[in-house]
Formats: sequence, structure tokens, C-alpha cells
Amino acid sequence: MGRCLCSEQRVRLSQGTDSRDLQAPPGAFRAIRRVPGDKSLSHRALILAAFAQGTSEITGLGPGRDVATTTRLLRKLGVTITGDRVLSPGIDHWARPHESLQCDNSGTTMRLMAGALSGRPFRSVLVGDRSLSKRPMGRITGPLRALGASIVLSPEDTSPVEVGTESPLQGTDVEIPIASAQVRSSFILAALQAEGSSSVTSPPGFRDHTERWLEALGRGERRSATVFRIYPGPMPAGRYRVPRDTSSAAFLWTAAAIRPGSVVTTPGVSLNPGRIGFLEVLERMGVDVSAEVTDSVGLDPVGTVTVRGGALRATEVAGELVAAALDELPLVAVLGAMAEGITVVRDAQELRGKESDRIASTVAMIRALGGGAEATQDGFAIVGTGTLEAGIVEAGGDHRIAMAGAVAALGARGTVTIVGASAADVSWPGFYEDLEATWSSR
Ligand code: S3P
Repeated sequence: MGRCLCSEQRVRLSQGTDSRDLQAPPGAFRAIRRVPGDKSLSHRALILAAFAQGTSEITGLGPGRDVATTTRLLRKLGVTITGDRVLSPGIDHWARPHESLQCDNSGTTMRLMAGALSGRPFRSVLVGDRSLSKRPMGRITGPLRALGASIVLSPEDTSPVEVGTESPLQGTDVEIPIASAQVRSSFILAALQAEGSSSVTSPPGFRDHTERWLEALGRGERRSATVFRIYPGPMPAGRYRVPRDTSSAAFLWTAAAIRPGSVVTTPGVSLNPGRIGFLEVLERMGVDVSAEVTDSVGLDPVGTVTVRGGALRATEVAGELVAAALDELPLVAVLGAMAEGITVVRDAQELRGKESDRIASTVAMIRALGGGAEATQDGFAIVGTGTLEAGIVEAGGDHRIAMAGAVAALGARGTVTIVGASAADVSWPGFYEDLEATWSSR
């Protein structure tokens, strides 16, 4: 059974702490929602614009804290960012930082900027908050050192990350063992500064946003689905249009999926193949999904997704699909709890290195709401009972857990309280208001 909150406990929570109570109204909803700009693409647009000398324009930047962190860090390097304009002296003229560069909670900022800064002829030190300081950084050292960069981590292979180079980087070919877009992009941003071309190969399933943008800018070439060649040279200043965030839309898709008869439509989201594994999971669980490509931005397909809720059946998520649905796996757990049967996620050990240990925090979230969940070494199993109870979900500093817990309120027989609710600001400030407006739309 979920922990039921007495009113005294609830009053204490809502007065003193960063918490949020959510209670979904009964009945189906129908909504069309424009979610915020994509976080992954916003980091990349800012960094690529900062590589180029001159003024670039970016529209649709994500409003979250992580994107603001990349903006702040680039400003410390002498890049002027005002509204949707980025004025850069060009990467060859980035200013030497006089203090540590604070990446806050943003792993993408730290890993991508470590790559970008590893080609600079000065030493930079990247630090993060408590959560980021525990996340694995060893994965970027091999590829960056292969180019000749100097990179030093803590004895635990975590930040602070010290990077730079005394002599120009030299192009090389690397193979990385995980389907990580962050590791690939870190290498690519360093390789763009090298003497001679480079290539990167990894298992499939990653989001290839960086690769697509570089192809469009003439600085890279796809040799196969997993092999990308990088051609160094000056980056042109230009225009970047950031589509809406697929991973943010996924919270609303799940809301509709677990409330039978509900329909939600999200226009303008990135349909990059490395981002839409969750749509396949929804279909496998019996959800009616339609995705229509309407546009293409920086070679990323962009489109409208409509999800209709109905009966849910359990599924198994493993292999290549895991990378393409990685950030949505807490939502798979919520769906699993509302489905018939046992839902299993495997091959997802990467979740242990996210903003929280997301295997542990996902299982804790489902259990806090009275559901049945077991952690395994590389994933979890969820017992579908078709309902959840009232309860308290501890976000633990992880935006995706805070938001998945809030969505679970649609399946709960009472109020769901999210403790540490402001974690959602990392990707979607105003999320709870938008969710409540969505489930109240008729
Ligand atoms: C991201 C890549 C993924 C994802 C993260 C954002 C990116 O991480 O989980 O939220 O923007 O490149 P990995 O590269 O570690 O798989």
C-alpha cells in the first residue's frame, strides 16, 4: 500500500519544503500542447554558434536551468548571448577562464564543454553540483586523449574535469563502447579543432543531433548509421532553429496513455530516431500513437505526435531500444504500473549514472505510490495492477523522477506529493501548471 498522508503531514510539506501536491480530476482530457524547446538541441546550438566567429541566431531555445548553465558558461569564455543572438569571437579566441567553470546539474554541459575546451591551449576546470560530481566522466577521457588532449579527473573518475592541450590536437579514429550521444558529441567538438579528420563509431540508438547539424554545416559526413567523420575547419555563423523537446512531450503522452479516452497532441517536436524509442514502447503497450513529420530542422525530422489512451499491456524494453528511450524509462515504469502484466526493462545500466541512480529512484517512485517494483542490476520489473495509490515521491534532485511522479497522479487514487518538485526546472520550468492545464482540458 502507498503511504497515505494525514492532513497534518501534507500541511507541513506544503509549508516548509520544496513540494507540490497533485490530484488529477476524473475523466478523459483532450489537449494540444506546445512543449518547451529541446534541451539536447539547445546545448548544441549554443555551443556550435559559439564555435563560429560572428553573430548566430537561435530560435526556440529551451527555457530550463541546464540550458541556462551552458549559456552562463559560454559567457565566461567571452561569448555574448542576448535573447536569441549569439555573438562569438570564434573558438580560437575564447577567453581563458580565470575560475572553475560551474556546470551545476548539467551532465550535457560538462561532457560537451569538456570536449570543446580540450582543444584550447589553456587549462579549464569544469565542476558540478553534488549530483553531477558523482556522475561518471571516465567515459570521455579515452576519446579525448586519443586526440592528444590532456584531461585529468578525480581519483573516482568524476569531476572536477581539468582539460586543455599544449599542442594542437591530431585527428584520429575512435570506437566508443556505449551508445552515448554525450560521449560522441564531446569527441566531435574536440575533433573539430584537430589537425586532420577524425571518425567516431559506437553502438546504435544514440541521438545524432550533433552529427546532423555538422553535416548541414559541411563539417562532417555520415559514413554509416554509426560511423561519423569529422572535418575540422572554421564553423560558419548561422541560424539554428530548435524544435520542441521530445522528452518533455513524453510526460504528456504518458498522461494521455494512462487516462483511457484522453487525447494529447504535441506539435513541433524533434522526431530524431535516437529520441523516439518511447513511441515504439507506447505502441507495444497497446497505445494508439500517430507521428507525422511536418518539417525538418538542421536535418532533424520534426513533427506532430498524437497519443490516445486506452487499455495498456505489459512489455519488455531491452537492447537498442533502451538508448532511444533512455530518458523516458521512468515513464515506462509508470505505464507498467497501470498496465496488465509485468513490464521489464533490461540493458539499462546507464540509468545508474543519471541525475540520480535512476534504477533505484524509479523503483522507489513506483513503490511510494503503492505499486510493485523490483530493481535488477541493469533495469527493473514493474507489476501492473492498473492503479496506484496516494503517496510521497522524493525527486532526489532528478527532474525526470519529479515529473514522472507528477504524471503518475493521473493513475493514483489520491494526492501525489512531489518532494523536491523544483527539480523539474532543469528541463521544464512551469511543468506542474502545464500538466494541470493539460489534464483539465476538455
Ligand atoms: C543527452 C544524451 C543522453 C541523455 C541526456 C542528454 C545529450 O545521455 O540521457 O539526457 O543531450 O546528448 P547519454 O549520452 O549519456 O546517453
